[in-house]
Formats: sequence, structure tokens, C-alpha cells
Amino acid sequence: MDFVKVATVKDFTHKSIISFSILGKKVGVLKRDDGSFHAIEVGCKHQSADLSKGEIIGMIATCPRHQWQYDLETGKCLTNSSPDLRKYAVRREGENILVSLLPLS
Ligand code: FES
Repeated sequence: MDFVKVATVKDFTHKSIISFSILGKKVGVLKRDDGSFHAIEVGCKHQSADLSKGEIIGMIATCPRHQWQYDLETGKCLTNSSPDLRKYAVRREGENILVSLLPLS
């Protein structure tokens, strides 16, 4: 599996989520409360708005455009029967955060 460096740990000093474009897909990297990192697609399944720009409480994101809600831990949409957001692998190498180029499933 190929990975790409997207950020450093310092980038998350004042943010809990940052989104990146990886091979044309919007991918969000989240820092959990325990300091671990998680990566998941953040392009809304409705009309592709960036979920990282909406309200996020805990791991629940509300789309800024039409308010669909997603659990960013599981990828499940909580308000509609849309496909799940796809998860990506995250690897930490020292201070660098790397994300897989392709989703896990
Ligand atoms: S684009 Fe997200 S709910 Fe419409």
C-alpha cells in the first residue's frame, strides 16, 4: 500500500481535522482526543461538499450544505441511506502524518 505525507503533528495543534485532496478525493485527517489519527473521505455523498468545513461535534459531522450528518469514525451517514464514507489508512512516522493513496475498502 502506498502512502503520501499530508501533514505534521504540529499542523493539528489548533485543529482537530484537516482535509486534503488525494487522487481527486477529499480526505480528512482527524486527531482523536487520545492523540491518535484517523483518515476518512470527507466529500459528502449528496453533492460533494467538504464535511470538514461543517460543524463537527465529537466525531459527528454535519454537512455545511444541506445538513446530512455522518459519523466520521465509522463512515455511516446518520440522516440518509447513502453509501458509507470510505476510510483510509494512516501512518505516523516521527512527526509526519502519512495517508494511504487509496481507501481501505
Ligand atoms: S452536499 Fe452534503 S447534504 Fe447536500
